[in-house]
Amino acid sequence: MANLSTNIAGLHLPNLFFNASGVCCQHEHELKQLLESDSGSLITKSATYEMREGNPSPRYVPLPAIQSSINSMGLPNEGYEYYLAYAKKYDYSNPKPLFVSLSGLSVADNKKMVEGFVAANLPCVLEINFSCPNVPGKPQLGYDMEAMESALNVLAPIIKKPFGIKLPPYFDIAHFDTAAAIFNKFDNLAYLTCINSVGNGLAIDFETETALIKPKDGFGGLGGLMVLNTALANVNAFYRRCPNKKIIGVGGVTSGKEAFLHVLAGASAVQIGTQLKEEGPKLFSRVKKELEDIMVAKGYKSLEDFRGKVKTL
Ligand code: FUM
Repeated sequence: MANLSTNIAGLHLPNLFFNASGVCCQHEHELKQLLESDSGSLITKSATYEMREGNPSPRYVPLPAIQSSINSMGLPNEGYEYYLAYAKKYDYSNPKPLFVSLSGLSVADNKKMVEGFVAANLPCVLEINFSCPNVPGKPQLGYDMEAMESALNVLAPIIKKPFGIKLPPYFDIAHFDTAAAIFNKFDNLAYLTCINSVGNGLAIDFETETALIKPKDGFGGLGGLMVLNTALANVNAFYRRCPNKKIIGVGGVTSGKEAFLHVLAGASAVQIGTQLKEEGPKLFSRVKKELEDIMVAKGYKSLEDFRGKVKTL
């Protein structure tokens, strides 16, 4: 048998798979579905300080021909107190650790939310989202290196415990270098989640000659198989540059095969977005089995046997 267990931020996950924040995690009944599934963990929808309705619909459209999607949800969420209340009543004897995503619209909002969680002194893990591409007028913090470092300077000492950040995809080696140098300054920044959707794509219907989603004139984040190679590059770039941090790979996972590639690139855990949205939480049983079968066929007993061991020519 293959062992799919892993560790993130000092916590044990019975297997490496969980949801990408945003899918199946805005409301308690969805989080319950994740708890009842074969996922190894769960993460809540990125919270803002106040609840948000998000952008007008249609705001998520699958692109089935290419196993992908475009979305501009606009951070619909119940407000951070809802997720704090959920985290307070979460049963931490459950083998699945709880991750909580925070995406304040300002550093001040992130600080207030983080302080709320720190005051509650819970064993959940905070993941700060620096990369939502879908809030009109709010650029992704992950693309402003100085602002990102300032935010980490404020938040990391308050959080004190191990935490993670969710990053946008980077496309230039200089950006990998600069971002990694910043992340390596923060010891309790335990993990990096790579990648959020590839921001501001445009999907157009050929027949109607119309953008597929309504917000932002049709511009939205791309997910699913079309972003796999960008995701793998980001996982590997930060795996190489941040040896003391774990990487959570997200992007393009439709089966055990893409999950295997994420681990080969350096991922310690794998989150799934588009495919989970399309298939529902029963997906986790399938991808677990597929990855186990691949590992058995290749003679790997644990994720450590091949993590980060992608060969280059
Ligand atoms: O629009 C959204 O709610 C997406 C958030 C994200 O990609 O982080």
